[in-house]
Amino acid sequence: MTPTNIRINGDRLISRLMALARIGDTGDGGARRLALSDTDKLGRDLFVSWLKDVGLDVHIDKIGNIVGILPGSTDAAPILMGSHIDTVGSGGKYDGALGVLGALEVIETIKESGLKLPRGLAVIAFTNEEGARFQPDILGSCVWTGDMTLAETYPITDSDGKCVGDELDRIGYLGAAEPGFLKPRAYLELHIEQGPVLDQEGGGIGAVTGVQAISWSEYSIVGEPNHAGTTPMKYRRNAGLAAARITVFADDLTRAIPGTVANGGVIAFEPSNVNVVPGRVVMTLDLRNPDDARLADAEARMATFVAALQREAGVTIGRRELANFPAQPFDPTMIGAVERAAQSLGYPVRRMVSGAGHDAQMMATVVPTAMIFVPSVKGISHNPAEHTEPADIIAGGNVLLAAALELAHDLDAAAGG
Ligand code: GLV
Ligand code: MN
Ligand code: MN
Repeated sequence: MTPTNIRINGDRLISRLMALARIGDTGDGGARRLALSDTDKLGRDLFVSWLKDVGLDVHIDKIGNIVGILPGSTDAAPILMGSHIDTVGSGGKYDGALGVLGALEVIETIKESGLKLPRGLAVIAFTNEEGARFQPDILGSCVWTGDMTLAETYPITDSDGKCVGDELDRIGYLGAAEPGFLKPRAYLELHIEQGPVLDQEGGGIGAVTGVQAISWSEYSIVGEPNHAGTTPMKYRRNAGLAAARITVFADDLTRAIPGTVANGGVIAFEPSNVNVVPGRVVMTLDLRNPDDARLADAEARMATFVAALQREAGVTIGRRELANFPAQPFDPTMIGAVERAAQSLGYPVRRMVSGAGHDAQMMATVVPTAMIFVPSVKGISHNPAEHTEPADIIAGGNVLLAAALELAHDLDAAAGG
């Protein structure tokens, strides 16, 4: 039987979340800790100091993933929990941090309780989940699961030409451990929902059934810079107009293909002057759909549109794929464990698909995986105003604890581990 009376220390979890958020504090409630930046290093250092304070075995792997392990009483495969502590350029306090610090809180709570679990528990902070600085996103978990190699990832550059391998080394997080060195029985990730559903529809816990498919593209559009007053419209080769038309076409696709969401997140004009027709634009497009076939349809329609647009607008358009991940369902037994944990604590729980990408989608390809969502106030995320009520943070932490306890005792399910 798993004990049901143990609870996390909510104040400690929240105070660690606030302490981490002070690193890279943007002064407007948010945080900026781009992957492998100086602020990411400081956030990592703080996290590692907490792992050591709790007495965990700390390992850094060759892609900078940070792992803390509390051994169990047998050598059965441990339960791994975690997320990421990097942020987007103007991020909030909770995206990723909650999953990492929630996992640490669960482990510390169990250690303090004196309970001896047959399975060990481990926490992981994955490198560059956000993909805001280096693409693709979920890089650390892609390497952990073997989906990408170190040789592929080290040369990836940011917009200033700095590469992953050099930046890992520079900040002191090019570790010695092999990515994937720990073979867990299961992976659990606590996360804020980052959308409005739980907040608008009664709160409680989300038992996440999977992550939708994601496609990121960068378009490089080349036209001709020219005088904005003297050049008759029919003679212009306007890269800026082509970029606008790509954005609008993608937005139209969201109404044409059910489930599609689209976002033009980066756009850079060159030259960028009031009276010059833009000659060159680099822009990004983020397309997602819970259904792989529908996302493929959206990508195909985009490609046809872009080909026609080149001719029509007199520009050339190159496309570079930045990320492409299929829809990833989670393990039914693990989803059930999350539901049981929430119900045992008296929280309403509903099944939902994640709109955001997460390290869990990679972990799900190698180990039974599920995620726990807590409400995001007004559904706001990737924004300094991102907020989750303390009671929901604590509820999420306790659901993670209850699910981890159930899984850590479940030696019968340990086929091969
Ligand atoms: C990760 O934050 C994503 O873009 O879904
Ligand atoms: Mn996240
Ligand atoms: Mn994010």
